Amino acid sequence: MTSSNNMLNFGLFGCGRIGRMHGRNITLNSRARLAACYDVAADAARQAGAALGCTAVASIDDILGDPAIKAVLIASSTDTHVELIRASARAGKAVFCEKPIDLDMALVDACWRDIGSLDPLLMIGFNRRFDPEFRSVKERLDAGAIGSIEQVVITNRDPAPPPPTYLRESGGLLHDFTIHDFDMARYLAGEIVEVSAFGANLVDPMFREADDIDTAMLVLRTAGGALVHINNTRRCVYGYDQRIEVFGAKGMLQAGNRHPSTVEVWTADGTRARDPVMPGFMSRYDDSYRAELDHFIDCVVNGTKPITDFASAREALRIADAAVASMKSGKTMRLEGAGRGS
Ligand SMILES: NC(=O)c1ccc[n+]([C@@H]2O[C@H](COP(=O)([O-])OP(=O)(O)OC[C@H]3O[C@@H](n4cnc5c(N)ncnc54)[C@H](O)[C@@H]3O)[C@@H](O)[C@H]2O)c1
Repeated sequence: MTSSNNMLNFGLFGCGRIGRMHGRNITLNSRARLAACYDVAADAARQAGAALGCTAVASIDDILGDPAIKAVLIASSTDTHVELIRASARAGKAVFCEKPIDLDMALVDACWRDIGSLDPLLMIGFNRRFDPEFRSVKERLDAGAIGSIEQVVITNRDPAPPPPTYLRESGGLLHDFTIHDFDMARYLAGEIVEVSAFGANLVDPMFREADDIDTAMLVLRTAGGALVHINNTRRCVYGYDQRIEVFGAKGMLQAGNRHPSTVEVWTADGTRARDPVMPGFMSRYDDSYRAELDHFIDCVVNGTKPITDFASAREALRIADAAVASMKSGKTMRLEGAGRGS
């Protein structure tokens, strides 16, 4: 799958916040080369092309029709993902697409009906599975460090609201943000069979105006009987609060926050604790984004399946749909027939 110089040639769709970050990671990866980038906003593509040292092309087909480009990274707005996945898979490219696949389950299923028989190499960017700390929690769970899982607590607090333009297309807190936690809950504790969600508007009126929430607390039940608590907010004054706790029959595993440094200041006035926690997703999860890219390249080189595949991303969306239904109805929702995907 690699080109003659043994580098995997990528085309990048979408040169916004996350697209530029993925583009940079491709250029830094010793097994990859960023050949071209495309964005509907030509200026965004031009600027990214200049910054990343690749060709900014004028159409999707300039990437899909280039036989030297073997892989695409889709980092455009969520509502463009299924079309780009479909076109890229049909063009025979290996596909890495940002989460979520789409907000509409009917479109997700139609996409798979169209391309499933092609057996595409298709990975969805649930990067938190590649975070070294969360991965270590998972490995220790699998090794039986705390016995059977009884409770999981996932804290996921954004420091500040995303840009209003992003918010409009995001699909709302539960589909855009909490979806990472749904995937993490499945990754750590197995299939989810029940969801109960509460939402609130406590942070900024713009969320209510966008028919969205800015604060959420959820309880999920796994097929194995464990309970999962997820808490989210779009404003957290001390930084990007990312913690996971798994409690089991034989103890607890805890992954705490990262700080820019571990320095504490001790003076006659007292002790000042460490710097605030990391300021946002780019800095907190930087190594997970690099690791997920490496995993994708491994899959292309070795012909293996990614651990964050289409089916597992579909399952995260199914849980998000159930969470919204629960929040709107005030009822606990049961998820029938869970268990697809990794
Ligand atoms: N995994 C993560 O941690 C993470 C973090 C942020 C965003 N995301 C996901 O990444 C995606 C992009 O988010 P963002 O924050 O970069 O948004 P953004 O608004 O900053 O960038 C999106 C870009 O896509 C471009 N675009 C729109 N339609 C296009 C098309 N048809 N073809 C090519 N480009 C197109 C826009 O012009 C824009 O430049 C979203 O799906 C989001 O859910 C994931």
